[in-house]
Amino acid sequence: MVLGRVHCAFCVILVFQTLLYCDGQFAQKNYETRGKRANESPDGKRSAPPMDTRNIRRGDTVSPLPFPTCRADNVDCLRRSLRTFFFLMDAGHFGMQPVDPVIVNSVTVSLPEEQTTFSLRRVNVTGARWTKLVERRFGLENGKAGVVFLTDLHLTGQLSMEVAGRPEPHNAFLTMDIQGAESNITYLGNIQRGRDNEDYIVIGPERIAIRNRRIPSYFLQPNSEDAYTIDEALQKKPSILDHISNEITAAIMHSVVDNFRLFSMNVPIRYYYKYYNEK
Ligand SMILES: *[C@@H]1O[C@H](CO)[C@@H](O)[C@H](O)[C@H]1NC(C)=O
Ligand SMILES: *[C@@H]1O[C@H](CO)[C@@H](O)[C@H](O)[C@H]1NC(C)=O
Repeated sequence: MVLGRVHCAFCVILVFQTLLYCDGQFAQKNYETRGKRANESPDGKRSAPPMDTRNIRRGDTVSPLPFPTCRADNVDCLRRSLRTFFFLMDAGHFGMQPVDPVIVNSVTVSLPEEQTTFSLRRVNVTGARWTKLVERRFGLENGKAGVVFLTDLHLTGQLSMEVAGRPEPHNAFLTMDIQGAESNITYLGNIQRGRDNEDYIVIGPERIAIRNRRIPSYFLQPNSEDAYTIDEALQKKPSILDHISNEITAAIMHSVVDNFRLFSMNVPIRYYYKYYNEK
């Protein structure tokens, strides 16, 4: 197979020149020296294979993944794959860490002017599994790629409010719903050929920016004076909830990226992305 005409202006030739990474498309070049790959049907589609997560070898006819390959710009296809990917994550495939439910040890937000610190501990977060893919972008600044996720989360945790000069913190149990947290994740992804002669994506450090579409809703327990005092402070400054929610969402998204980093080190690109010059 010879690389056909390239249609876009922004293309970068990467490692070993075996691949062309072009506006989000992965193209193979001189990849077929050993003849046609066995796992392709004439129309280029692969049938859904049974799962086998171990021992991925070159030339295997069985994909290690329970979802079909997607073109990198086919957001609908990627949305379906992402859903399955989250289930694989929560099942711990490839050594990935479950993200739903997940315990975030502690989150702290300080208000220097009010001399007040809020700490949320032993936060139990659920809902990450239903994260939706909003957007996929390539060719951002410095050749970075990006992804925008939308997530609804439900969490519980031990909230304490410390005010300077007051010996004891106020304590309450917080239950919070985060609806429509938008995570904008950008990273540098390089393609590298492994010793097994397969191509892998190596994900560099990520940058994550969170934006809440609305202020999270919450309630405090028990019905105590402490809870009442904390509630008053939160009502006065709803941005505290925003901060807490952003920290939690960011922590989960970092885990998701770490998981994908592990995944992409273990699974060759061809199992989840359709190549640009594939029929
Ligand atoms: C976290 O919450 C989920 C759902 O409410 C629950 O099933 C799970 O046991 C909790 N985990 C911990 C460690 O409390
Ligand atoms: C996400 O962040 C990137 C880089 O900072 C920026 O170019 C892009 O516009 C952002 N996208 C959204 C939807 O906010």
